Amino acid sequence: MTNRLKVGVVISGRGSNLQALLDACTDPAYPAEIVRVISNNPDVEGLRRAERAGVATETINHRAFENRESFERSLSDAMEAAGVELICHAGFMRIVTGDYLSKWHNRLINIHPSLLPAFPGLNTHKKALDAGVKLHGCTVHYVREEVDVGPIIGQAAVPVLDGDSEDSLADRVLTAEHKLYPLCLRLVAEGRVLVDGDRAIVKYAGPFDPNILLSPAS
Ligand code: GRF
Repeated sequence: MTNRLKVGVVISGRGSNLQALLDACTDPAYPAEIVRVISNNPDVEGLRRAERAGVATETINHRAFENRESFERSLSDAMEAAGVELICHAGFMRIVTGDYLSKWHNRLINIHPSLLPAFPGLNTHKKALDAGVKLHGCTVHYVREEVDVGPIIGQAAVPVLDGDSEDSLADRVLTAEHKLYPLCLRLVAEGRVLVDGDRAIVKYAGPFDPNILLSPAS
């Protein structure tokens, strides 16, 4: 496919969601391509995943900057220099603010391991178990100033089972994340997602239902 959307991915570690996106992009019919992967942590597995896929990588270590603003400027400049049109945060464990958010407004998406607005922040699987919810899951959304808030592009739900531990629940959610993120990126790249105030309106004419309940086995 020509005119694929040029995507930059920002990670902090393992990069399994990055891997799901890289795998989706191997399909020539997929409407996006990953042109740059940036990590704020050096020597992480996600960087090796990108290298194996032949994608250019960079480490921009936030610890080397005086403040958040200069780190974010460097990140933004690097993405711009790589010709990136849309940024995906995928397990990127830093809060973003100010100019970075305005520059990439509605061109910056994130995956969060809960069914937002339930359980923003960290330790979402523990929060879900403590709350006794029977459905948990993940959300892909546009990034806004407030953490884990922003127009929702898609969600996938998984059951919480008797006897689940944080790890078993995290594994089930992660399997859903790996399906949801490539699906949502596809919808965005195809121009099917319209941001209207606090909501994202998704128009799809194909087999993709961004709010489908994904069973662990599917
Ligand atoms: C995922 O659960 C993601 O939703 C959360 O952090 C985890 C990152 O995993 N923000 P990976 O680096 O994509 O494997």
